[in-house]
Amino acid sequence: MNRLESEFVFALCNPGSEKALKLEAMALGWHPSYQRRGFVTFKADAPLALKSLTAELACARRLCLSLGKAPTREAALQRLDAAALIHHARYFERKMQGLPCAASPHIGQLIGTVVELGPTEFWAGLHRHAPFLSPDPAGDAGLVMPRESPSRAWLKLEEALRFFALQLTPADVVVELGCAPGGVVLALLQRGISAIGVDPAKMAEVVLASAIANRADTPTNKPWFFHCRKPAALAGKRDLGPGVSWFMSDMNQSPEVVLKECARFCKMAPDIRGVLLTLKLTDLLQIADKAQWLASLTDMGFTTLRLQQLSVHHKEFALLAMKS
Ligand SMILES: C[S@@+](CC[C@H](N)C(=O)[O-])C[C@H]1O[C@@H](n2cnc3c(N)ncnc32)[C@H](O)[C@@H]1O
Repeated sequence: MNRLESEFVFALCNPGSEKALKLEAMALGWHPSYQRRGFVTFKADAPLALKSLTAELACARRLCLSLGKAPTREAALQRLDAAALIHHARYFERKMQGLPCAASPHIGQLIGTVVELGPTEFWAGLHRHAPFLSPDPAGDAGLVMPRESPSRAWLKLEEALRFFALQLTPADVVVELGCAPGGVVLALLQRGISAIGVDPAKMAEVVLASAIANRADTPTNKPWFFHCRKPAALAGKRDLGPGVSWFMSDMNQSPEVVLKECARFCKMAPDIRGVLLTLKLTDLLQIADKAQWLASLTDMGFTTLRLQQLSVHHKEFALLAMKS
């Protein structure tokens, strides 16, 4: 068999997401074959070519054509193409983690991944870097949250921006539903991006330092934050004002409620070009509903869609939608 073909693939995932990952992969006709925490292999009915490995599995932080198991790192490396950029990942401290890699992959580049699951268990896999795939070996960016962040949501935003290589600039204005206490807003302000936060709960002081009292009084020389202290359903066009270009939600609400509010806000602010939602599930097996979530964003006019579980997520997924 050509080495860029294999009947086997492996996926790295969050420990605890294996069942949901298998549900997604079985819908593609792949059969679960071997499993460890954070790592699942699948067998396809026929050999898969590297170029056809384009499946979008929301639970997979990395998906590779599997070149099999080896007893040492060196033996795993020998299975990989010498031209490939090599990434190393391992299951460590109850997490699937990537080891730092100095070079950033470019689109189309061949990447070899060596996954260490134990002292004598090393797996080798290949994939090509493509848009919306993480540049990091196990899809975890190794980000460190600043001490002043009032919540871990800072990490959720920063990891999503890095995973998807999103380009938000100070010209953007973001509206976030469920913004308190303000980890996401802090990350946006630190990037020079202004934000309107909708949430009846209180914001942290570190964010309130950039707050404006009226939506109409926006400074032009620094990023600002406007707190619309209401439940999302009561926020209207006047609270948003002009120029909103991104919609985000981190509300503790069902995907259906979040998507309904997303549609309403996109109607109120037609310049919205991108959406980044944190969908919170009661059970990860609700991933079976993913086609409906994606379809509702298509109905709103979005053309590029990605659903992805990030390393900072528990029973959550990031849903990205963009207009071009
Ligand atoms: C996980 S916290 C959000 C964390 C926040 N994004 C951050 O960066 O710190 C969830 C928030 O959703 C808010 N929330 C829940 N239902 C809401 C609704 N219907 N409208 C607005 N906010 C809501 C809660 O008040 C809570 O502050």
